[in-house]
Amino acid sequence: MSVEFDAKNTVITPEAVLIIGTYDENGVPNAMNAAWGTQTDFSEITISLSQHKTTENIEKTGAFTVAFGTVDTVTISDYFGVESGKKVNKIAKAGCHVHKSAHVNAPIIEEFPLTLECRCKDWNPETGILVGEIVAQQADESIITDGKIDLDKMKPIIYDSAIHAYRSVGPVIATAFSEGFKIKKAVNQWDN
Ligand SMILES: Cc1cc2nc3c(=O)[nH]c(=O)nc-3n(C[C@H](O)[C@H](O)[C@H](O)COP(=O)(O)O)c2cc1C
Repeated sequence: MSVEFDAKNTVITPEAVLIIGTYDENGVPNAMNAAWGTQTDFSEITISLSQHKTTENIEKTGAFTVAFGTVDTVTISDYFGVESGKKVNKIAKAGCHVHKSAHVNAPIIEEFPLTLECRCKDWNPETGILVGEIVAQQADESIITDGKIDLDKMKPIIYDSAIHAYRSVGPVIATAFSEGFKIKKAVNQWDN
């Protein structure tokens, strides 16, 4: 028997812990936490945003970065979601270090090991939908194994909206584009 939840209490999982980095018109860096975002093409990210210091900054610079919350950065990741850059310099208060992306006018926060550098492709304040073209990605060498991003080293986190908590990402349990062949092959045998 299923239990029905109203539409405002839906749980979509996993949700991301995206840290959006921006500069204001004076070059002051800011960061905010966003759960409602995902990859929408090979080089595209789409995020649902209310009006924030972050969106004001993007309107001025046309650029942003997206880093990913990790076990080691969970406290600063949450801080970036409970304080506004309209009131304080969150980057300074959190003790973070930044440098400017070589590709877009947005900061790379050095405490986070993986960061997308994005050009603002579309921002609609009415729908709150931000679309970014990913022009490059920076990964700290400490999270790379055999030329690939290694999530066991990176230790990314997800946001659990059911209980308002952060969870770590678990171990590999199967190989994609392969596991399903256990059924596909069996069905094809029966079909033939
Ligand atoms: C776990 C978590 C997820 C959040 N997800 C979003 C989101 O997807 N969209 C959004 O507009 N705000 C989201 N927020 C709220 C913003 O991070 C928050 O309002 C922040 O203070 C905005 O920062 P800024 O004013 O410096 O830009 C989230 C906050 C937390 C803690």
